[in-house]
Amino acid sequence: LATDGESAPAPNRNQDRSTERDVPGTAPTEFFNEPDTDPSLPANQKWAKEIIAEATAPGYLDDRPKTPKVDSAAKLDEMIANGREAAKAWRELGAAGRGEILHRAAEVFSVRRGEFIAVEAAEVGKMPSQSDPEISEAIDFIRYYALNAAELENLEGANFVPDEMVVITPPWNFPVAIPTGGTVAALAVGSAVIHKPSKPTPHCSALIIDCLWEAGVPKDVLQLCTPSDRDLSRHLVAHPDVDRVILTGASETAALFKSFRPDLHVNAETSGKNALVITPAADRDLAVADLVHSAFGHAGQKCSAASLGIMVGSTHDSQRYRKQLIDAAASMVVDWPANMSATMGPLTEDPSDKLERALTSLEPGESWLLQPKQLDDTGRLWSPGIKEGVKPGSFFHLTEVFGPVLGIMHARDLDEAIEFQNAPAFGLTGGIHSLDPEEVRTWLENVQVGNAYVNRGITGAIVRRQSFGGWKQSSVGLGSKAGGPNYLMLFGHYTDDPSTL
Ligand code: SER
Repeated sequence: LATDGESAPAPNRNQDRSTERDVPGTAPTEFFNEPDTDPSLPANQKWAKEIIAEATAPGYLDDRPKTPKVDSAAKLDEMIANGREAAKAWRELGAAGRGEILHRAAEVFSVRRGEFIAVEAAEVGKMPSQSDPEISEAIDFIRYYALNAAELENLEGANFVPDEMVVITPPWNFPVAIPTGGTVAALAVGSAVIHKPSKPTPHCSALIIDCLWEAGVPKDVLQLCTPSDRDLSRHLVAHPDVDRVILTGASETAALFKSFRPDLHVNAETSGKNALVITPAADRDLAVADLVHSAFGHAGQKCSAASLGIMVGSTHDSQRYRKQLIDAAASMVVDWPANMSATMGPLTEDPSDKLERALTSLEPGESWLLQPKQLDDTGRLWSPGIKEGVKPGSFFHLTEVFGPVLGIMHARDLDEAIEFQNAPAFGLTGGIHSLDPEEVRTWLENVQVGNAYVNRGITGAIVRRQSFGGWKQSSVGLGSKAGGPNYLMLFGHYTDDPSTL
């Protein structure tokens, strides 16, 4: 679809978030990226502080919208049948009718931004500096897909038939943006959705669904539930009347879903083992800041996170750079939620065996540049760790650990750096810091990642500017990327027989 190019400027809104705002009635005709909250405004600082005080008080989630549990296969069958029936009228509305509702939803999300920040803080321990951009991203997905659906409908000869029933199974690490993205993409093309939250984040999902219902998405078109055990989850995913499952999670889960029903469409964004290459031609100040930010944002719990820094040639031995890197990571404030200026928060779940190993042990040849420390007895609050001397082919080189540990590798030259970067089975994000155009060109031609970033951090893709999706084992059944012009085409099929449209 022809939507590449610059986004329109965002409307000039009152950036003081503490001011009440109404949902405007008119839908935009051009896409714009939703602005994040300006944290430099004292009114916004006060606003965020009050939200966090409320959200971290005991029992905060008890009165929030909840995800209903479903404990029988018959109930799931009924939900699927109701959804498929309701999809007919939803499809009849056309992209413009659905778009009107979805644009209203974007505004509802914007008005209820503070609630999202609170629920993310309470449920997964996200700080406002991390959750706020995530909410903007969710709003971007809604507007972008609503506008794209209208384009898709007008695409002459496309003969696109949307899926009737899509199941969304999102992750917990971006529990607002990613679940919203999959859900609204399916809704925008005219599908019905059953949204099954990730286990740790039922309240984030319930809030998303509440906002979409508030905007006017019918309740049978968009249903929310948690099957109460594994057999029922399987019943839902493997159901013959489910056309597609959208998953963000482990590659093993995608394979499991496929094993339930080989003809099921599974579109999965899976793991990553991502590296940032820094050459002697880099702007080193910028490179260090981007590496630290990409490695330790949300305590490294991002599939896009930088897990490896690959230092090329003399970069590796520069004492100034080592000191900068250590100082930058050591100065992170890991004292959340007690300290509103904290820059790193806790892990959402207890460390997995892989993460535990990465945090607490070294492999041959490795040493700590900065040893991570467990900061309290929950086992979830860790200071950032950096190990150097990571060897090609080692556990840390090839394994996704999903936590606040960064490994440093030393490559002889750019070719060897690319070899190290391409060695893991995954290929999600990757970056290079170099001001030499020839180096950048060579890197871009050879790196095997879905999202290749130049002189920038490697997390935080922006809808429409950087569509997001992986290569190799980072992606299962995905021919197009989230937040990009072709994503909606996943949610259906093409027909030679226009009478079926
Ligand atoms: N889209 C996120 C990022 O770019 C990851 O899911 O960091």
